Amino acid sequence: MGRTLTFKIFRYNPTKENDQPRIDTYEIEETKRLNVFTALNILRETQAPDLMFDFVCRAGICGSCSMMINGRPTLACRTLTSDLPDTIELYPLPFFKLLGDLSVDTGVWFHEMAEKVESWIHTQKEFDPTAEEERMDNATANKIYEAERCIECGCCLAGCATIQIYPDFLGATGLNRIGRFLIDPRDERGDQEWFELVSTDEGVFGCIGMMACDDVCPKDLPLLEVFSFIRRKLSGIALAKDK
Ligand code: SF4
Ligand code: SF4
Ligand code: FES
Repeated sequence: MGRTLTFKIFRYNPTKENDQPRIDTYEIEETKRLNVFTALNILRETQAPDLMFDFVCRAGICGSCSMMINGRPTLACRTLTSDLPDTIELYPLPFFKLLGDLSVDTGVWFHEMAEKVESWIHTQKEFDPTAEEERMDNATANKIYEAERCIECGCCLAGCATIQIYPDFLGATGLNRIGRFLIDPRDERGDQEWFELVSTDEGVFGCIGMMACDDVCPKDLPLLEVFSFIRRKLSGIALAKDK
């Protein structure tokens, strides 16, 4: 016989008058290959029709269903209940604005981060729609691809001690984004511009390096490598300035 799972879920709708934060408890029977996202759907259909949580892809691609599952930030659609104990505690991701229950607004933060790091290729070249596509060596293209695998789920920020204290910190995902453009040979930003962007407490100096982000990233991005790359680049620029 399958297990009876107990879900203890944070409930609070800030738009509802007189609503108070609380933990509600629900029970469902575990089925084979049940994941937390499907369990939440069952709960919404059978016991809690007003339960709020986010999803789009159900396949670990969109990053919408991230939440705290038994204290760990991760994706609900990629978490099998069979990997969890009988009691499953669900909370919204910390740091982001709470929309209601398990739903948070990650979009505003990611949009602001993209603007802050100027998340586009800076080039003086005129765009020529008739020109042949620019070639890039495979190793560089693969490194860019790795960085672009970030699904903006926010788990690394939810697990980051620095950003809870210093909300302007760019976090692992922001540094990863900077790394992506630093690698790109088409980006013509100069050393001084990169230096100003990353050599601050908002940038790489804010990072205490305990790598919780690396531990929780559901896409296994090579964040440690990204941070080392940025630090090496920064040291190179600083040394060149001293000469
Ligand atoms: S290593 Fe840096 S970015 Fe990652 S969780 Fe720690 S402080 Fe945050
Ligand atoms: S770096 Fe990983 S944990 Fe952070 S937003 Fe991207 S995919 Fe999510
Ligand atoms: S629903 Fe898209 S990552 Fe889970």
